[in-house]
Amino acid sequence: MSRPAVVTTVADLRAHLKPWRQAGERIALVPTMGALHAGHISLVQIGHARAERVVTSIFVNPKQFAPTEDLATYPRDFDGDLEKLAAAGVDLVFAPEAGEMYPEGEATVVTVGGPSAGLESDARPHFFAGVATVVTKLLIQCAPDVAIFGEKDFQQLAVIRTLTRDLALPTEIVAGATMREPDGLAMSSRNLYLGKEDRRRATALSAALAAAGEAIEDGAPADAALISARRAIEAAGFTIDYVELRDAETLSASTRPGKPRRLLAAARIGGVRLIDNIAVAAVE
Ligand code: PAF
Repeated sequence: MSRPAVVTTVADLRAHLKPWRQAGERIALVPTMGALHAGHISLVQIGHARAERVVTSIFVNPKQFAPTEDLATYPRDFDGDLEKLAAAGVDLVFAPEAGEMYPEGEATVVTVGGPSAGLESDARPHFFAGVATVVTKLLIQCAPDVAIFGEKDFQQLAVIRTLTRDLALPTEIVAGATMREPDGLAMSSRNLYLGKEDRRRATALSAALAAAGEAIEDGAPADAALISARRAIEAAGFTIDYVELRDAETLSASTRPGKPRRLLAAARIGGVRLIDNIAVAAVE
């Protein structure tokens, strides 16, 4: 099993991509912050299904962390990541240093309106400008035919779809379904922070969303279903940031008949902030 080539500069990235592109090969990009788990690998597999070449970026993007957040302690395991990417057949890893992504004197920020409003932005107002800026750079640097992002970060996905459309970036954005542990917990690099007892309790988040989603699809009033979900999540020891039913396309609080909906939640347990979301069918 050979390890994928690793490049750290935009110039080397482009030099590697050029012959592939000249040979008419399609290129898929899977952007990550490392600490890879099966959820990331499922995105790589989507890349293989969509393109001849799969590139994974590993960059813990400082711009999407507030000074009070976990940038310094965010899990990092570059060697382990490379092994997983080798096993998954990734062709190239782009692992820039911060100075390559944000050169001295840089002064450009990408901000997205629309789906950025509320939800994650209420707790993390800096977050989407950081994500939108780095993802725009990655999409320009790599110019992939397709880029794959997990639905676990559903609002992030909506923001990325919006910036790709608005800036006319010629990359197709593809969503990968959330991968879950056998007990339902959505896979996340931050799950590594959970102590044993909190890890056990954390299943309440996905369980409450599943129950509420089912109740709403069965015709229960959304408000009542959301109240029950919040109670169940709090009873497990979480402090809730939000539990909301939104239009799945616009993320607006006013859902539209005939349009899919999304139930989204963020909550903290033992100092760890977890997010999750599930699809809720449209009402006709
Ligand atoms: O979802 C992530 O891991 C990050 O937000 C992303 C999209 C790689 C941007 O840094």
